[in-house]
Amino acid sequence: MRKPLIAANWKMYKTPAESTAFLTSFYPLVKSNQTTEIVLCPPMTSLQALTDAARGKSVFIGAQTMHWLNEGAYTGETSPSMLTAIGATHVLVGHSERRQYFNETDTTVNLKLKSALAHGLTPIVCVGEHLNERETNLTADVLNLQVSVALEGIDPATLGPLVIAYEPVWAIGTGRTATPEIAEAAHKIIRAKIAAIAGAEVAAATRILYGGSVKPDNASALCGLEDIDGALVGGASLDPVSFSQIVINATKA
Ligand code: PGA
Repeated sequence: MRKPLIAANWKMYKTPAESTAFLTSFYPLVKSNQTTEIVLCPPMTSLQALTDAARGKSVFIGAQTMHWLNEGAYTGETSPSMLTAIGATHVLVGHSERRQYFNETDTTVNLKLKSALAHGLTPIVCVGEHLNERETNLTADVLNLQVSVALEGIDPATLGPLVIAYEPVWAIGTGRTATPEIAEAAHKIIRAKIAAIAGAEVAAATRILYGGSVKPDNASALCGLEDIDGALVGGASLDPVSFSQIVINATKA
């Protein structure tokens, strides 16, 4: 009942020409896949080129961040209506690199989540513990806090599009993937918290992705688990063949 979602987070990689060349190579490899929602999140400067190139194809285009306001004196920022105006449909919110290097907090995640929902964007809200938090048994506390502040003041009836990505910070870009057991346990914590805040029905319908060193050879073990509804992929999404294999292996799971 939850449609699998596999998203590529290209971070600060790929020019517009490189982005459209990726789609040209990638699309034929996944075209026959009707079961998975595929999302590419390029840098802002590639969004327009990719939304144009993806028109008529079953691939969605998302931004890696946005401001929560619609316009204003916020140098360097991009607003939700600017994203929808060029055909972006998804947006990452609160990626750990945004939290670590650009001062994003649970409070700004909450503002961005409200704004994305209000503008009809599908938000992919990233949560996850640091290594020291896992080692001191704080994982559940961290996830519960991140999820509860993110959802604060939001009408559960509006949460249909919500996607959460569980990305343990120690697994991002490190080649160190969470074991399926660790990931599944964290996903269960997150789903239980959503149930406590927004009700069992919303929790059962919310897609929770795993992210952190997902590769073609571990995608199926992770995505085959009951509470894992797809993946958010960084490094391995930069190559069209590798990313297509992740889509295919995750879907078979
Ligand atoms: P990674 O990145 O797949 O390179 O670990 C995941 C992410 O940052 O979303």
